[in-house]
Amino acid sequence: SRAASSLQQACEPSTYSDDNYADLDWDNLGFRLLPTDFMYMVKCSKDGKFEKGQLSRYGNIELSPSAGVLNYGQGLFEGTKAYRKQDGGLLLFRPDQNAIRMKIGADRMCMPSPSIDQFVDAVKQTAVANKRWVPPPGKGSLYIRPLLMGSGPVLGLAPAPEYTFLVYASPVGNYFKEGLAPLNLHVEDEYHRASRGGAGGVKTISNYAPVLKAITRAKNRGFSDVLYLDSVNKKYLEEVSSCNIFIVKGNVISTPATMGTILPGITRKSIIEIAQDLGYEVEERVISVDELANVDEVFCTGSAVVVASVGSITYQDKRIEYRTGAHSVSRKLHSTLIGIQMGLIEDKKGWTVEI
Ligand code: COI
Repeated sequence: SRAASSLQQACEPSTYSDDNYADLDWDNLGFRLLPTDFMYMVKCSKDGKFEKGQLSRYGNIELSPSAGVLNYGQGLFEGTKAYRKQDGGLLLFRPDQNAIRMKIGADRMCMPSPSIDQFVDAVKQTAVANKRWVPPPGKGSLYIRPLLMGSGPVLGLAPAPEYTFLVYASPVGNYFKEGLAPLNLHVEDEYHRASRGGAGGVKTISNYAPVLKAITRAKNRGFSDVLYLDSVNKKYLEEVSSCNIFIVKGNVISTPATMGTILPGITRKSIIEIAQDLGYEVEERVISVDELANVDEVFCTGSAVVVASVGSITYQDKRIEYRTGAHSVSRKLHSTLIGIQMGLIEDKKGWTVEI
């Protein structure tokens, strides 16, 4: 397909011996922190307004031992990426959507949030200031991590009296150690990621540490990651630890509807639109774990993950395998999405922001 051949073209050696690049082994980027030069930071004043933010050298920050974020987990994070185009320009992907999601999350967590414009501007400034860390075309991207946290001191359980908005970045390649190879997921039947009335639908930091136990156990047993079920019926698919999930049967693509317990992914939403444009029927609905026995394909989506195909899912010791590879639906969706993100396919939707 056009998308696949442009991807291949992008992966051919280009200008990465250039002095404008940081000294890194660009061919072996995984998903781990590689500190960059600058970060953006700003505090909010007492009236809940954020001051004018500033870039500073990337480094440790000072926090009160009684900061709200350290004691009670009053914090949110986001994830977005900058890609380098063949002509040297940088492309962001729908950063306004991350800004909107942070605003919604901030409301849930009783925090003030930066305006959409300030958020997007902070992401842009962080990407541009760290340009030499944006991988060459086809080698990866600069992962940008905005954080919003209760940085003021609290002792009793209450919203913090001061907040910090911070943005840092790291060059990354593939999220999973499998690279682009299909994932082997395990359906978790002891731990849940979120519950009704909880905060599973926002990107609070407090949703992530509780799943480490399940992830570690699954990884020790040779699985790539964990697929969570709903906590009420222990029957309906929710999401994977770091990404959303989709199933494919014939021409129909389905994904669990986000009803407060599932993170509304920006990649999820974009893939739904791309799939519809490509002629698939897309359903957001309740999906029973039993359906996994009877589908052609499964794939995951996320900002960090992009689109990752799933080769197998194991549920209660029964392993089911799925179609993967060059002719899969997930491959087609992946190359279309990443083609848009990298500037190789015309962006008719106005999703990319050139900086
Ligand atoms: C992302 O996809 O950007 C995320 O925030 C998930 C995270 C666990 C890496």
